[in-house]
This record gives sequence, structure tokens and C-alpha cells, in this order.
Amino acid sequence: STERTLVLVKPDGVSRGLTGAILARIEAKGYVLADLKLVHANREMLEQHYEEHVGKPFYEPLVEFMLSGPIVAATFEGQGVIAGFRSLAGATDPTTAAPGTIRGDFGRDWGLKVQQNLVHGSDSPESAERELGIWFA
Ligand code: CMP
Repeated sequence: STERTLVLVKPDGVSRGLTGAILARIEAKGYVLADLKLVHANREMLEQHYEEHVGKPFYEPLVEFMLSGPIVAATFEGQGVIAGFRSLAGATDPTTAAPGTIRGDFGRDWGLKVQQNLVHGSDSPESAERELGIWFA
């Protein structure tokens, strides 16, 4: 069925000038851009967004990274877009994410305590609705 998902171009993607290239790949696969904005996140939003990671060793570096610059938030729609975008994004670790994926082609290890991996995509319909409520409140 038709789904929607939250895509974030994280601060590394925006600062490296990759926003257009990343959004173009998602559009080229056939998904439809339904909403788009530039967001300066705050701690409260990030604590909600990353609620399952609160307390993990990488949580604080992750929050600092997500506060380090603007983020581009997008809603994409289409049949199977949640799984389809995650496949296009590639594995969490950009060092080993497959070539042909966004993280595999554009990402690398920059030596920080957090994986700077360019994009986020919701992992289920429930997560998508919850996350869209945070970023497109
Ligand atoms: P994302 O899929 O947006 O959700 C959690 C983020 O935390 C993830 O992308 C990475 O940026 C980061 N992350 C996840 N696991 C680790 C880890 N083991 N070490 C460092 N950063 C991580």
C-alpha cells in the first residue's frame, strides 16, 4: 500500500552540499516528494526522535552531531517507500555500506565517535508517523 516516510539529510550531507544529489536519487527511484524543509533541530526534538538510543554510548555524540548544523527534512511517498529508501540509503556504517547506496557512495569514517552517515529513514509505518509528527509538527 502507499506509505510515507521521513527522510533526513543530516548535517554532514547538508554541509557537504549533497542535499540535491541525495534527493535526486530518491526521486529517480520513483518516490514522490511530498514535503520539504530546512530545520535547525533542538535537544527536545532529538530526544524524541532518538528515544530508543537514549543512554547508549553514542547518544550524546549523536545529539551533538545532529545539532552541529541545519538538517533537511523530507516526506517521501510511494508503495514500499519505507523499505525502499532504507535499501537506497545502505547500511548504517558508511565504511562498509554497499557501493551504489547513498552511504556507500558518499559516506566514509571521519574519525568521530558517531557514525556520520548522511541520511536517516524511518524503519516502520509506526516510526514514520511518530517521526513525521516531530519534524513536521
Ligand atoms: P540513524 O539510523 O539515523 O539512527 C541512529 C544513529 O546513530 C545512526 O543513524 C548513526 O548515525 C548513529 N549510530 C548508530 N549506531 C552507532 C554506533 N555503534 N556508533 C556510533 N554511531 C552510531
